[in-house]
Amino acid sequence: AQPAVTTDVLVVGSGPAGASAALFLATYGTSTVLVTKYGRLSDTPRAHITNQRTMEAMRDMGIEDRLMREATPWEYMGNTTFCTSLAGDELGRIPSWGTDTVRHADYELQSPCTMLDAPQTITEPILVQAAQERGARVRFDTEYLGHVQDDEGVTTTVRDRLTGAEYTIRSKYLVGADGARSKVAADLGLPFEGPGAVAGALSIVFEADLSRFVAHRPSVLYWMLQPGAEREGVGLGVLRMIKPWNEWMLMWGYEVAGGPPDLTDEVVRELAVALVGTDDFEMRVKSRSPWTVNHHYATTISRGRVFCAGDAIHRHPPTNGLGSNTSIQDSYNLAWKLAHVVSGAASPALLDTYDAERAPVARQIVERANQSIADTGKILTALDLSDTTDVDKLEQQLALRKAPGPEGEKVRAALREAIAYKAYEFDAHGVEHNHRYASAAVVGDGTPMPEYRRDPELYAQPTTWPGAKIPHTWVTRHGVRTSTLDLVGRGRFSVVTGIGGEAWLEAARALGDEFGLTITAVSIGPGQEIEDPYGTWAELREIEDGGVLLVRPDLHVAARQLSSPSSAQQAHDWLRAALAAVLGRA
Ligand code: FDA
Repeated sequence: AQPAVTTDVLVVGSGPAGASAALFLATYGTSTVLVTKYGRLSDTPRAHITNQRTMEAMRDMGIEDRLMREATPWEYMGNTTFCTSLAGDELGRIPSWGTDTVRHADYELQSPCTMLDAPQTITEPILVQAAQERGARVRFDTEYLGHVQDDEGVTTTVRDRLTGAEYTIRSKYLVGADGARSKVAADLGLPFEGPGAVAGALSIVFEADLSRFVAHRPSVLYWMLQPGAEREGVGLGVLRMIKPWNEWMLMWGYEVAGGPPDLTDEVVRELAVALVGTDDFEMRVKSRSPWTVNHHYATTISRGRVFCAGDAIHRHPPTNGLGSNTSIQDSYNLAWKLAHVVSGAASPALLDTYDAERAPVARQIVERANQSIADTGKILTALDLSDTTDVDKLEQQLALRKAPGPEGEKVRAALREAIAYKAYEFDAHGVEHNHRYASAAVVGDGTPMPEYRRDPELYAQPTTWPGAKIPHTWVTRHGVRTSTLDLVGRGRFSVVTGIGGEAWLEAARALGDEFGLTITAVSIGPGQEIEDPYGTWAELREIEDGGVLLVRPDLHVAARQLSSPSSAQQAHDWLRAALAAVLGRA
């Protein structure tokens, strides 16, 4: 029988990975169908920390402002607080997500975008709506059942969950963005590493006006050291802001082996009262969900014409806030490659670079997020405790914190140090930005990767070294300030040069025609359309005025030449070779 539906790319799942994949593909003009199992988008807030790298992708898509309008702004995100309860003793705070005065400069220097707090209930509708506006066809209540690949494409069987009818969708490529229990990844037999489910956690979303406990120390997260809090779960008890300051998510652990407890109204109230530290508040419970803290990543993330993205390939706790960010960035990496292969501008070999570039990231973030739970244990160690089983001992050690004398001083110093160490969770700017892709879609220039000058997990270090994202700085277009990131992207390759680099731009025009691409030509310098009045681009670009960067649609540098070409022919030959290598057409 003929397939009922045909498309270039079929995306399974409407979470951050799938919704963004559909948006990127539709924006690039690739025919896309998205199917998703339920009749709605996420009905619980789930992932929320939205980092600058994700916002840069949203800016590239022209929807940064839509997210900013609905999300909780950066300045409310900062005072991650460790306490015994909201009403109880405060053990300390760590300024987070670049809100600290010193770290703020690092974040502002790195990106034109801000950090945001945008739960999936905000993000998913924006992504899906924008994808639909740009032509993606979205089918709710449609469940992926299985697929078969052949030399020309993929035939996927889905079930309409309203009618029960099954039908097939024929596509050139399939994206499995179907979350942590991915059937697409299972059907592909993707290999996974890591211990799997390591702990259980409960998420309870409720409305309650808790302003009096938090408005003076605005934050996304408040962590509670209480008896039993370090067992299972995410390291301690947590109250997470969903909406300032009257919607919350409570997180607490449970033992996976024993299964989640029965979340009766009494159990939920008791947990909330314990974490808030008083029963003097009204609450209305919106949802209760048990989930597992996972430590699992795929070491191969695609096979043939099928690519997995998001939790389908990396399953980890919410620590570091990397869940939806990494999922969206997987899709940002994959979508332009699919678009270029579908249009015929690139050979299918380009698609192999998705695995080479993103599988290492899957591993890195799963390890990082799990390490952050372990690091929270340093807070107990600082109190000279291995666990909270002995409640009297816990209270005694907490009291010591306030006592004069050397013992108290030791505890105070150790606690300050343990809380400051949590920068690896709450200010890991380098983890978010320092990706250096190594694959056939990056042409090395023979120079070694620049050494990190500071801790690469904590500090982002911009470079134009091939494989890294092009650095952001403010330049001007006709005098108006614009980011270097705004000069590139939009689904296109870009050639970025300066005075003396005219031959690169001419070569880009000629080669665009040859390769069937529109290549954005950018020249930065005095008298050019783009100028560098602050001189910061000259500081960051690591090439001479007449050198060149070839930048991919996902803003990563594909290749660079440090100095002016010796002739127009040499510029043409170099750029031709670089493009051919990246597009798999060498
Ligand atoms: P996601 O799971 O979001 O989406 C999968 C999609 O696939 C869904 O649309 C689903 O309906 C669809 N689907 C599944 N099977 C299908 C099938 N057979 N056919 C069709 N469609 C199918 N992270 C974080 O950073 N902070 C947090 O606080 C939390 N909290 C949290 C709470 C709970 C309860 C969960 C379950 C998860 C979190 N997370 C989280 C994790 C975070 O939600 C996760 O990292 C991202 O949602 C991953 O995005 P994906 O798009 O990959 O998967």
